[in-house]
Amino acid sequence: MPSYALLILPSANRVYASAAAGLAIAELGAFGGSVLGGALSAGEITHLGGVPYVQFTAERLSQEDTSFLANMSSIYALFEVTGGLLRPVELTPLDRYDDDLITIQKYQGKTNEQFTKLLLNVTALASAFGPQLLSRQLAVLDPLCGRGTTLNQALMYGYDAAGIDLDQRDFEAYSTFIKTWLKRKRIKHKVSYDGPVRRNGKVAGRRLQVSMAASKEEQKAGQAQQLDVVCADTTSAAEFFRAAAFDLVVTDAPYGVQHGSKSAASGLARRPAELLTAAVPIWASLLRPGGAMGIAWNTLVAPREEATAILAAAGLEPVESEPYLQFRHRVDQAIVRDIVVGRKPS
Ligand SMILES: C[S@@+](CC[C@H](N)C(=O)[O-])C[C@H]1O[C@@H](n2cnc3c(N)ncnc32)[C@H](O)[C@@H]1O
Repeated sequence: MPSYALLILPSANRVYASAAAGLAIAELGAFGGSVLGGALSAGEITHLGGVPYVQFTAERLSQEDTSFLANMSSIYALFEVTGGLLRPVELTPLDRYDDDLITIQKYQGKTNEQFTKLLLNVTALASAFGPQLLSRQLAVLDPLCGRGTTLNQALMYGYDAAGIDLDQRDFEAYSTFIKTWLKRKRIKHKVSYDGPVRRNGKVAGRRLQVSMAASKEEQKAGQAQQLDVVCADTTSAAEFFRAAAFDLVVTDAPYGVQHGSKSAASGLARRPAELLTAAVPIWASLLRPGGAMGIAWNTLVAPREEATAILAAAGLEPVESEPYLQFRHRVDQAIVRDIVVGRKPS
């Protein structure tokens, strides 16, 4: 059976330190379990010419298989190992815009870009739409979107992106960034709404709605992507978005460390688990059947059982099988991050 060697992005080692290879192996397992045609052996770390690789065997990878793997958050290059030599495998990721869409913004509290892509990937792969990752214009909601790392990754894949965040500075910063970036890159787009949203005569938040297309042809063919960002409390998300409108909900919850979560209603900081308890049922109502919700959180403020119980209480089926139990990793002294994914029954 052919053997393959995957070279991990050098930046992964900076982000995850010694956990990089383990996370790459787990992500590879998520692709293998969901979308790759042939059987894939569990990846293992090997050294070739003194350089570490994740090596695995598989029935010959088809072009479609490699198109899926090209979107792994940790992949730098892929080789087929033949007779001790490495034959490069062509990788064509979905990326449809310059990568500065994702990298330009730098700010305290930004969720690492590579981790955001991992979270989006493994959530999509756990959903009923995993096999359509490359072909379907998925609708993604980040209900704690900050300055839009998930939204930008979703746009990069050609998906529709929606977000909600309570922090007005985050909303303004993202709104300014994306409008400037779209203009500077001369990307066909139309801002259909940019202003306050009112409820009962009062301003309940702000909203930015943009439709954009990577090319004129796509725009003409009605294949524009929709971006919709709201500044409001996430527990009011159902006031802004239709029920069952999203294929995926993907979010990085507050870590309960530097800046705790905020509630517009009380103006008080809430524990992240309390925020999730209040918000997950609302987010679940926005997911369509077959969709999935992926949440990253700090296990030092809430254990995994608590996170899975919150998903289950909202009618989602937590994915508690391998490799979905292998994403836990240390970020710093105060944060040990993990990912939990729940499926909405079809
Ligand atoms: C870990 S950060 C997410 C950062 C984001 N992924 C990014 O890269 O910019 C969590 C976010 O949750 C937001 N947040 C906390 N409580 C909220 C609430 N009740 N409603 C809406 N957003 C809230 C915070 O403002 C913060 O931006």
